[in-house]
Amino acid sequence: MEQNRGSWGSNIGFLLAAIGSAVGLGNIWGFPYKMGKSGGFTFLLIYLLLAVFVGFIIMMGELSLGRKTGKGTVGAYRSLSKRFKWIGWLAVFSPFVIMSFYSVLGGYCIEYMSLNLSNLAFAGAEIKTGADLFGAMLTNPFGCVMFTLLFLVICYLINRGGVSGGIEKFNKVGMPALFVMLVIIIIRSLTLPGAMEGLKFMFVPGYAVKAGFIKEAPKFATVLATAGGQMFFSLSLAMGAMITYGSYLSKQEDLVKNSAIIVIADTIVATMAGIAVIPAAVANGIAQINAGATVIDAVTGLERAMTFADIKLGGPSLLFVTLQDVFQAMGTVGPLFGVIFYLLVLIAAISSAISLIEVVVTYFMDRAAEKGKQGNRPKVVLWVCLAILVEATVVALDGLGTNVLNIWVPLQNSFGVIGEFNDCWLDFMDTLSEGIAMPLGALLMSLMVGWEIKPKTLLDEIHQGSAAKIDGFFSFCMKFIVPLGMLLILVGQVDTFFHLGIF
Ligand code: PHE
Repeated sequence: MEQNRGSWGSNIGFLLAAIGSAVGLGNIWGFPYKMGKSGGFTFLLIYLLLAVFVGFIIMMGELSLGRKTGKGTVGAYRSLSKRFKWIGWLAVFSPFVIMSFYSVLGGYCIEYMSLNLSNLAFAGAEIKTGADLFGAMLTNPFGCVMFTLLFLVICYLINRGGVSGGIEKFNKVGMPALFVMLVIIIIRSLTLPGAMEGLKFMFVPGYAVKAGFIKEAPKFATVLATAGGQMFFSLSLAMGAMITYGSYLSKQEDLVKNSAIIVIADTIVATMAGIAVIPAAVANGIAQINAGATVIDAVTGLERAMTFADIKLGGPSLLFVTLQDVFQAMGTVGPLFGVIFYLLVLIAAISSAISLIEVVVTYFMDRAAEKGKQGNRPKVVLWVCLAILVEATVVALDGLGTNVLNIWVPLQNSFGVIGEFNDCWLDFMDTLSEGIAMPLGALLMSLMVGWEIKPKTLLDEIHQGSAAKIDGFFSFCMKFIVPLGMLLILVGQVDTFFHLGIF
């Protein structure tokens, strides 16, 4: 049945799809604010080091694992390893869990895009603030579920078309469009008064603390864990996505070059997204401060003048409250930039979501092929999307902890604060997948490659299309650097999430 498995139409098609998988909400949303909260420049430096010594290595490892076996995650691990064959399951489980909140966030983007569209169409009508809009959206569970459903329908239609007929086609148009829109937003953002403060916040070492955006620089271990977690999520690693995409890649393609391009492109887009988002948010905050805005102090409960520390640069509010306010403050052209921005985020979310869905779909298709049957792709995609809809409905109804189905707050009230995740379903699902399953999966994978099947097994595969002299670097990183880095990241994540105070 191998001949019916399908493959990428071209290497550029594969590259755009892999970059599409990597470039997602993690870049546009996670990267900028994590960079800000972690003291800016230090974070960037650690991130880059991790990307080269860990991300690039695992990227090559995953792509070669997929291509060598010609199978999705479960099949790939099963055919190579005795001791670690179950890791494949972890890498099917995590994308499935990630989709529970990824599709809800995708739904939010559609909702915001339509909001800005209607603001554009009905110029002059009363326009609500970002906070009002966000609150109204979260407390409308039916709307959230409907938009989540819409997002999943779009993904369904793409995945149904197959690897080259659906995923590749979408990314070939989507990725260049995303890039152009990002450039437009960057130009607009950087020309706002006060934007330079935002740039300094990102790139000048120590500026975030000096200017008063954050009180003190976080501990090194925390920055390492944050940067590490972010790097994994952003590069779509340890989620089976790159194994799956690699399994559809032809033997003559250069895995070293491809891996490098994916890592570099993802990092460039993340940095660009930072430049698009942070300066705009900071500029808007400065405008509010200059206009004499006041806030209620969280500690004293009294009203006081707004300061740099009150500019919200993190969490869901960055994308859906702060930036919406930025667009609103731009006057009549604002909604136009709003539409462009949320469309850009939506494309990024779709191109990542379809790779997550494909991990699960490929598993079922491969399983059918193993039994000598030809899997029915449209049917498999439909069932996978329906299953995702069920878990996503819980997250959508929960509305970041504002609604029914929230068991976390009562749990917290009875048992005290268990960990970072216990205030809403989205956080819980995120902790489970991104926080724990992902670094754990990468740690086990590097142990398997480095010590059980040995790096040479994958290097032989890598050398089929590449003569690059990376053997020593690859083996050394796979055996020592990656496991050590992963262990530190994992302990750091668990420490932060559960407030253990290890570091
Ligand atoms: N890389 C995507 C992002 O940055 C998320 C993702 C993770 C996609 C794992 C696929 C696999 O948002």
